[in-house]
Amino acid sequence: MSLYAIGDLHLHYQSILKAPGQLHGRVWKNHEEKLKNNCRNTVKDEDTLVLVGDHSWGKNLSECELDLQYIEGLPGRKILTRGNHDMFWDVKKTGQLNELFRPRLTFLQDSYETYQDYALVGTKGFTFEGPYYLDGRGRIVGWDESEEERAKKLVERELERLWKSFELAKKDGYQKFIMFLHYPPTNILEKRSGFTDMAEEYGAEQVIYAHCHGESRFYDSIHGEYRGRTYSLVSGDFLRWKPYKVLD
Ligand SMILES: [Fe+2]
Ligand SMILES: [Fe+2]
Repeated sequence: MSLYAIGDLHLHYQSILKAPGQLHGRVWKNHEEKLKNNCRNTVKDEDTLVLVGDHSWGKNLSECELDLQYIEGLPGRKILTRGNHDMFWDVKKTGQLNELFRPRLTFLQDSYETYQDYALVGTKGFTFEGPYYLDGRGRIVGWDESEEERAKKLVERELERLWKSFELAKKDGYQKFIMFLHYPPTNILEKRSGFTDMAEEYGAEQVIYAHCHGESRFYDSIHGEYRGRTYSLVSGDFLRWKPYKVLD
């Protein structure tokens, strides 16, 4: 039995791409087929696959029907967390989504799921992404401070949601955690953040995140061992559509 993760599928069977420029390049060509084949070769029915946000470009549930059907068709137990593009998923209606798709898909928000003796906790997260102002050599010399203020509020809200997820699991007796975020845990200016601090506070063994896609974004945040935990980027194009094995 294994736990796998991958994110940023950006499916668009029914909807038009909102930002076609983001998804060009060979890696995105027939990416749905590549992922499906790779999943069939690695993920078994008894395994768990966590999909770490940006599932679909659809604006609402009816525009995502085929995208979610595609996800249902992947092997294993599927757990979904929210990404910034998942307009079909209103946090307040997560319960309804779970009712609609149970037992085929699980939507994780303000809650936790389990894998062996681990609690899987997570939320979308948030990081300030600029705009940054650069000098002639491409070095950051400033940024939009009003956007930074807005970002701080969104970070606070996401930290609150993540805290809720950890606390529920802890109250139920879980001591081992894997933490999932859609956004990277830090932005390119940060060494630490509320998200890395929370991972440390609860002793999460691994932090899994996505959102950074396109080669120029892959190393915007932490990779590998850092202050006692392991950080892994699982955006689909970074993984070349092969799900990342989180745990055996
Ligand atoms: Fe994305
Ligand atoms: Fe994203």
